[in-house]
Amino acid sequence: MQENFREFLGRLRDAGELIDLKQPVDIRHIATLVDQSDKALLFHNVIGYDMPVVSGIIRSRERATLSMGCRNYGEIEQKLKHAIDHPIAPMMVNTSHSREVIQTGDDVDLYQLPIPMSSIYDGGPMITAGVVIARDPQLGWNSGIYRFIVKEKALTGIDIVTPNNMRLFAQRAYEAGRPLPISISIGTHPLEIMASGYRAPLGVDEIQIAGGLRGAPVQLAPCETIDVPYIADAEIVLEGEILPTGWTWPEGRFGEFTRLMGGVHWNPLVRIRAVSRRKDAIYYALHMPWENTWLAAPTRYAAIRQALRTAGVTVKDINVTLGGCAFWHAVISIKKQPGEAKNAILAALSVMDLKHVVIVDDDIDVFNPMDVEWAIATRVQADRDVLIVTNARGKPLDPSLPPAPTGVVPTTAKMGIDATIGEGIPKERYERIAYAYADTAKIGDYVNGRADESGRAGDAMALADEILRVIDEKPLYYTEIAERFAQFDFRTVARALGDLHATERLWQDPEGRMCRRGSRFAAKPPGAIQ
Ligand SMILES: Cc1cc2nc3c(=O)[nH]c(=O)nc-3n(C[C@H](O)[C@H](O)[C@H](O)COP(=O)(O)O)c2cc1C
Repeated sequence: MQENFREFLGRLRDAGELIDLKQPVDIRHIATLVDQSDKALLFHNVIGYDMPVVSGIIRSRERATLSMGCRNYGEIEQKLKHAIDHPIAPMMVNTSHSREVIQTGDDVDLYQLPIPMSSIYDGGPMITAGVVIARDPQLGWNSGIYRFIVKEKALTGIDIVTPNNMRLFAQRAYEAGRPLPISISIGTHPLEIMASGYRAPLGVDEIQIAGGLRGAPVQLAPCETIDVPYIADAEIVLEGEILPTGWTWPEGRFGEFTRLMGGVHWNPLVRIRAVSRRKDAIYYALHMPWENTWLAAPTRYAAIRQALRTAGVTVKDINVTLGGCAFWHAVISIKKQPGEAKNAILAALSVMDLKHVVIVDDDIDVFNPMDVEWAIATRVQADRDVLIVTNARGKPLDPSLPPAPTGVVPTTAKMGIDATIGEGIPKERYERIAYAYADTAKIGDYVNGRADESGRAGDAMALADEILRVIDEKPLYYTEIAERFAQFDFRTVARALGDLHATERLWQDPEGRMCRRGSRFAAKPPGAIQ
């Protein structure tokens, strides 16, 4: 798939998923309009700017699916998995349309870009869709998406409070007393956003995963002022350096993926050395949190599935829940061998940042919250089935953690709930209620007038003897007896069984089937001598 950003916008428009707003709109109104819209919005006339703004392009399950070129949302995970297993190295080109306008030095002016603010407590206009590329002399290439709040015409912060690879690169540069050059490509295809949002291990280049997603190399081109490439088909490219200031500048607040406002962060500064763009560039204002969430969830699936595969657990389904911010909670159904639910908990909780995991049997629908809660209610003994790990690596953005001193990354507790049927618990305790004749007696037919034939009334005493002969061979459930003698009306069958009971000939086997009292099938009362 060689589609670029604007071609994707065209596809969204054709699918009726993008609305063009041609009238003048104040940039201060953009965030709330996007929040209220069930379609992506392209603002052609943003008052005071000569550049349109698009937002909301992956803000729904449908648009996220479209952006990945998939037929359904679930397919995104498979596509990502394939890309991780089959990365494709990027290809260098000399230049690109993103170079049609270039500003360097004093001409750099971020205030010319229509960078909106988002939520009411934001610390300023915020760049949200920048795919950042950086290189560490020893560790190699890295890319990710990090937010930048504009502070001056050529100065921003960069939000790298989380212990991710970019933070490590910046930390190493800071310790060496040098700036870390970064390119920031804005208005790239969501395939690149998806790949760089994937938390690849150190040393794995996410741009190669983007190539795997595309099935073709991502084209990169050299920057003007720094020795780092940018994504060649981006709408706008910023060339900058993370300055060796350390984590000393207040930045924020930020609206987070948690759907909550984060606090003020202490971050480094970024000097912007050049801005280049297409002549007719479109500014992409990625709208938090949902434009993050829909593509973030599949990146979690891939990591969790990998961990469970390594643990040898047979997984049926995984739901990284939206209630868990598509980040912290997973419900996983497994085909369990004894003890494996606990192994599954250990494996899943090893995945970075996953905080709570519920393991269920494969008869539970992980996408149905009531089914999952039902499993927790009916299968869990808390002292046996809840595992808690303390002091694991945490995410500073977790609002439930107590405030930590500046620069200290707090640790977190993790919890796993084994909501599978416990070892040694009789399986028949989990037989679901099922109704006789469910296959043949259909309500639709009865509403349309279907009538049943009535069985005949008969001699209950004679029938009792006949029933006894049948259940002497094999005990039967009451409903099976009623069906076996369906030529009689139900009342005759019930009377016959009543007669057997009254004459002390009827009993039940341990499963509840009817049998002759005293026969080899008969259940023994508690405490009876065997
Ligand atoms: C839209 C979007 C915004 C993001 N904003 C930030 C951010 O401000 N700071 C941050 O640390 N991570 C942010 N992330 C998450 C990182 O991009 C993601 O964890 C990435 O995998 C980190 O890569 P790294 O470990 O290679 O640095 C964002 C992700 C998306 C998709």
